[in-house]
Amino acid sequence: MRTAGKLLSHIIVREVPQIIKEGVSSLAIDNFIEAKMREVSLKPECKGYKGYQYATCVSINDVLVHGVPSNKVILKDGDLVKIDVVASYKSYCVDMARYFFVGKPSKTAEKLMQVAENALNKAIDQARVGNRVRDISTAVEKEVETEGFGVVRDFAGHGVGKYIHEAPEIPNFRTENKGPILQIGMTLAIEPMITEKDAAVYIDSDGWTARTKDGGLAGHIEDTVLVTEEGPEVLTRLGD
Ligand code: MF3
Ligand code: CO
Repeated sequence: MRTAGKLLSHIIVREVPQIIKEGVSSLAIDNFIEAKMREVSLKPECKGYKGYQYATCVSINDVLVHGVPSNKVILKDGDLVKIDVVASYKSYCVDMARYFFVGKPSKTAEKLMQVAENALNKAIDQARVGNRVRDISTAVEKEVETEGFGVVRDFAGHGVGKYIHEAPEIPNFRTENKGPILQIGMTLAIEPMITEKDAAVYIDSDGWTARTKDGGLAGHIEDTVLVTEEGPEVLTRLGD
């Protein structure tokens, strides 16, 4: 998973920015990422998952998650682009999402994604032995609500490892259920999903694309984190 995380974050952080520009289709982005993954023996785990046909999810503006790559979706100036990828190396998966702006973003888009990023970092800091899953959830909710944005309740983070989705479920809001106690060796996909206005989302007629009902912007960012004796180790970052 460590290897998968290093290889995937290199592609997403170092190579993807060069193709994010006006006029490029979300399918071209997907093809680019899949080719880069195969070059370094990363398997695109989304492909074939519940019938999904692409290596990545490319979710733009009001699309929160699971945006389906298409040659009809063309990047335009000011777009907020979230890219979500699951990659495995020798059968072990990591799950990661990052955001990009096409040209100059709106102040709102910038603020939304800064809050999503801050929420992710505060949540990761809770991924410590002895804490509960709920401590992660609470950290996200607190950060997002303090800043006046919406917390999506329809999707959650999750354990990740041999499979994309493993126990435990990691909601982005505080629940009655404290969830399990975190232990050394657990690997968690932590993924705040937030909205500019109302947190309600719906799934498009394609059966995948999740959009805000009110058409407001949606934010998503994700890392895979290993719980270690010394604290959280983020596997999907380059660390330099
Ligand atoms: N990152 C996605 C998630 O956690 C991975 C599965 S969605 C699919 O929901 F696109 F691959 F199907
Ligand atoms: Co995920």
